[in-house]
Amino acid sequence: MSIIGLIITSFFVISVESSHFRGASFSWAPMSNGSIKVDYRISWKRSRHNCDDNTIASGKKNAEGNVCTTDGDCFKLEYYCTDYSIVDNWTSGRNTLYINPPRDKFDLIFKGGDWVVASGWSLLTTVDLTPRLDNGLINSSPTVDYPPVVNLQYSCQHSIAFPIYDVDGDIIRCRWASGKTECNSVCRETYNALPSAVLDQNDCKISYTAIDQVGLYPLAIQVEDFMESSPKVPLSSIPIQFVVNIYSDNYGSCDTVPTFVSPTPDPGEYFGVGVGDQLTINITVTGKTRLNSIQTTSVIGMHRSAVTSWFDGVSYYMSVLVTWTPTSEADGQDHSLCFSGRDTNGLYSETRCINIPVGDCGDISSFANGSVHTPNGTRHPHMAIFDCDVGFKLIGDETRQCLANATWSGSYPTCEIIECDDLEAPKNGKISSFNRSTIIFECNDGYLLAGEKILECTINGTWNSNPPICLNGILFNKAFTLLYWTTRFMYDFFFIV
Ligand SMILES: *[C@@H]1O[C@H](CO)[C@@H](O)[C@H](O)[C@H]1NC(C)=O
Ligand SMILES: *[C@@H]1O[C@H](CO)[C@@H](O)[C@H](O)[C@H]1NC(C)=O
Ligand SMILES: *[C@@H]1O[C@H](CO)[C@@H](O)[C@H](O)[C@H]1NC(C)=O
Ligand SMILES: *[C@@H]1O[C@H](CO)[C@@H](O)[C@H](O)[C@H]1NC(C)=O
Ligand SMILES: *[C@@H]1O[C@H](CO)[C@@H](O)[C@H](O)[C@H]1NC(C)=O
Ligand SMILES: *[C@@H]1O[C@H](CO)[C@@H](O)[C@H](O)[C@H]1NC(C)=O
Ligand SMILES: *[C@@H]1O[C@H](CO)[C@@H](O)[C@H](O)[C@H]1NC(C)=O
Ligand SMILES: *[C@@H]1O[C@H](CO)[C@@H](O)[C@H](O)[C@H]1NC(C)=O
Repeated sequence: MSIIGLIITSFFVISVESSHFRGASFSWAPMSNGSIKVDYRISWKRSRHNCDDNTIASGKKNAEGNVCTTDGDCFKLEYYCTDYSIVDNWTSGRNTLYINPPRDKFDLIFKGGDWVVASGWSLLTTVDLTPRLDNGLINSSPTVDYPPVVNLQYSCQHSIAFPIYDVDGDIIRCRWASGKTECNSVCRETYNALPSAVLDQNDCKISYTAIDQVGLYPLAIQVEDFMESSPKVPLSSIPIQFVVNIYSDNYGSCDTVPTFVSPTPDPGEYFGVGVGDQLTINITVTGKTRLNSIQTTSVIGMHRSAVTSWFDGVSYYMSVLVTWTPTSEADGQDHSLCFSGRDTNGLYSETRCINIPVGDCGDISSFANGSVHTPNGTRHPHMAIFDCDVGFKLIGDETRQCLANATWSGSYPTCEIIECDDLEAPKNGKISSFNRSTIIFECNDGYLLAGEKILECTINGTWNSNPPICLNGILFNKAFTLLYWTTRFMYDFFFIV
C-alpha cells in the first residue's frame, strides 16, 4: 500500500473507531401466499463484520440487529456478504425476509446504536397492503440502492444518482428523512450534514459541491411512490442510508480523478436479463495514475473476476468483469450494480449505478388474425416478429423488442383484411375458385389459357398479374403447327449446311 493509502487508512482508524453502521436500504413486495418479501442491503465497518472473497463465495451469513414491526415482532438481520472494501473499511451484504403481515398497514423499524460520527440510527419502512384505489391491486414499494460509502473529493462538484425502480410504474419522489423513527441522530433538521447539498425530489439526485470539512457524513433519504391520481399521499416509504466521505484535495485536482471508459455501462443504463441467462458487465477505469481498486455494490450471486491492469503508454487501466445468472428468487424485480474506481493516490472516480431488471417482457402471443414469432424467447434484447394470416395485411410495427427495462417496445400491430377488386371471368373461360387471397381461372373446352392461371392478391390490394385470356384452341393449334415447321426447317437447313 502506498504512503497515501496508509494515511487514508489511518484517517479511518481515527475517525470511525466507535462506530460500525454503514447504512442500509429496505424494500418490500407482496407475495401470492400472503407473506411479504422484504429485501435489504446492510453494511458495516469491515473490522467488525468480515466479508472477503471466501465468505462471498461460501454464502456464509453474518448477522447483527433486528428489524421490528410496530407490533413488536422482530426479525434477525442476517445477511450474505456481497461486497467489501479494504481501503474504505466496509462490508456489505443482502438478504430477504418473509414476514407474515400482522395487519394491513404497519411499519418496519431498524434501530441501533453507532452510526458514523453521529450516534443512534433508525430506518423506517412503511407497508400498506390495502388494495390500491386506482387498480385494486396490492402495491409494492419502490426499490433503491447505493454503496455504503461514496467518496467525494473536497472542492469538486458531485452528483449522487440512485438507481430507483418501481414495479407498479408509480411516480417516485425522494426526500430527506425526518423525525426520530426515520433517521434518529442523522436527520437533516438536527444533524444537517452537507447543508449545501441539494436533493432533486423528482429525479432523486443530489448535487453537491464538496465544501464541507473532510470527514464522514451519514445521509438518510426516504424514497416514496405515489399514484398518479393522488400525488400527495405516498403509497409506501422506504429508507436508503449511506455515508459520504469527503476526502482531501491534496491528491490531485477535480479533473485528475479516474474515469470510466467503454465498455463500462453508462450511468442509469438498463440491462434486462432473464432468469437463467448470464449477464456480463465489464467495468473499466482509466487514469493518469496507477489504479488501486474497483469497488462494487452488487447482488447475491454476482461474481467478480480478478481485476486486470494495464498501461497503454499514456494511461493506466483497471478492469473487472461482473457476471450474474439470476435465479428465480431474483425474478420480477429490479436489481442494481454500483461501482467506482480508486487510484493509488487515493482519488476516486464517480460512483456509477446501473439497473438490472430480471424477468422477461411477458406473454405477447395473443394476436387476432395473425401470429407472433419469438425465436429467441421473450427476453431483452430479443424481438417478437408479427405475421398476419394469409389474406390479411399488417398495419403497424412488424417487430417489437423486449427492452432492457423488461417492457415491449411499440404497440401491437393489427391485421387488416386485404381486399382486391373483383375480377371478371375471361371470355370463353370462368373463375373456378376464389377467395380473398387467391383466384383460379379456367378456360372452356377447346380453349387454351394464356397468362397466369392463379392470381394472388398482394399486400397492396392489387392482383399480382393481369387476368389470363382464353385462346381458341383450333387457331392456336394452327399457329403452333406453323411455328413448328418453320423451326424445323431452319434447323435442318443450317444443320445440313
Ligand atoms: C479498518 O480496517 C482495518 C483492517 O483492514 C482494521 O484493522 C481497522 O481496525 C479498521 N479501522 C476502522 C476504524 O474501522
Ligand atoms: C410464503 O413463501 C415464503 C417463501 O417461499 C415462505 O418463507 C413463507 O413462510 C410463506 N408464507 C406462508 C404464509 O406460507
Ligand atoms: C473489458 O473490456 C476491455 C475493452 O474491450 C478489455 O480490454 C478488457 O480486457 C475487458 N475486461 C475484462 C476483465 O475482461
Ligand atoms: C379475423 O378477421 C375476421 C374477418 O375480418 C373477423 O371476423 C374475426 O373476428 C377476426 N378474428 C379475430 C380473432 O379477431
Ligand atoms: C435471435 O438471435 C440471433 C443470434 O443472436 C440473432 O441473429 C437474431 O436476430 C435474433 N432474432 C430475434 C428475432 O431476436
Ligand atoms: C422502458 O424504456 C422505454 C425506452 O427507453 C421507455 O420509453 C419506457 O417508458 C420504459 N418503460 C418503463 C415502464 O419504464
Ligand atoms: C384461398 O384459396 C386457395 C386455393 O384454393 C387456398 O390455398 C387458400 O388457403 C385460400 N385462402 C383463404 C384465406 O381461404
Ligand atoms: C406494393 O406497393 C409498394 C409501393 O407502392 C411496392 O414497392 C411494392 O412492390 C408493392 N408490393 C407488391 C407485392 O405489389
